[in-house]
Amino acid sequence: MADERNASFTKNLMAGKVCFMAGATSGINRQIARRFCLEGAIVYVISRSLDKVTATVDELSSLGTEAAGKNVDVRSYPDVEEAVGDCIAKFGKIDMVLAGQAGNFPAGAAQMSSNAFKSVIDIDLLGTFNVCRATVEHLNKTDGNIIAITAPQGSSPWMYQSHVCAAKAGVNMLIKCLALEWGPSGIRVNAISPGPIDDTEGMRRLAGSTEQLKKTKDSLALRDLGAKDDIADAALWLCSSAARYVTGTIIEVEGGTSLGDASGALKL
Ligand code: HXC
Ligand code: NAP
Repeated sequence: MADERNASFTKNLMAGKVCFMAGATSGINRQIARRFCLEGAIVYVISRSLDKVTATVDELSSLGTEAAGKNVDVRSYPDVEEAVGDCIAKFGKIDMVLAGQAGNFPAGAAQMSSNAFKSVIDIDLLGTFNVCRATVEHLNKTDGNIIAITAPQGSSPWMYQSHVCAAKAGVNMLIKCLALEWGPSGIRVNAISPGPIDDTEGMRRLAGSTEQLKKTKDSLALRDLGAKDDIADAALWLCSSAARYVTGTIIEVEGGTSLGDASGALKL
């Protein structure tokens, strides 16, 4: 799919907005962080690897805005809280929160250990709660907004993905509950559900071979993988005043994944 978005296409949509972004040190979320910086945002990133945090902060800072970060595992609430404190000490406020971190591997439910299942639930679901809970008092002050990154597995059952399906379904319900509880304080809470996105760790893990990739494309209504910028565009829209009346929703940017198999095969 042709992708003509580039650095010169900026309108300062996020000028001065401070964004606390979990899992934004690679893949889709890092592209969201890049695009936000190009639109004038100040970004604070967290993820487990110090090397990835350092490399991301260096890159984002080179885009002409401010960036900082900390190596944090979202499964530890005290560590997330400490990072939020550091973000406030550095930048004074939080306008936007991304809960984008996730873990995934294909595994049958009868083969997976209890700890393997728990790891994904804790990273995706508990991690999303931790990030939202640790930032809510600051979002209260800015009428801020939260975006969680979910997946098609959150709304349909997939083979070898029971852990991911359960975790992302939990994220989908969590954001709706938070939207209900925190809307009266002016906070919007939404999720974006990406379809299969080109050149990502997720796709390498789930459809790593050329043959699997072709099968995936052939099954999609739009017959192509998405681009990381497709997700960044949706995130920018959700943060803009154009989405001021949008909360508790799951925005599907999936190329038709959830419509079912579009390869033409009859499902018997
Ligand atoms: C079965 C596995 C496994 C595998 C790990 N485990 N990999 N079980 N198959 N391939 C088990 C381990 O044996 C262990 O159980 C338990 O999981 C925890 O493993 P650790 O390595 O200790 O966990 P941790 O260091 O916390 O790492 C978490 C992780 C890892 C999820 C296992 O893969 C990770 O860090 N992933 C982050 C990056 C990632 O997954 N990105 C893709 C996101 S894409 P035991 O019983 O031995 O202790 C996505 C959606 C894609 O989410 C959708 C596409 C359409
Ligand atoms: P990715 O590159 O692996 O990104 C995952 C990010 O989360 C990394 O920055 C990783 O950094 C961080 N992370 C993982 N575990 C963490 C933890 N315990 N604590 C803190 N940070 C953690 O993945 P991606 O493929 O771009 O996917 C990004 C998001 O999109 C995920 O939510 C995924 O479920 C969703 N999604 C992806 C696709 C796809 O096609 N790729 C499709 C649908 C949905 P560290 O390793 O440093 O921790």
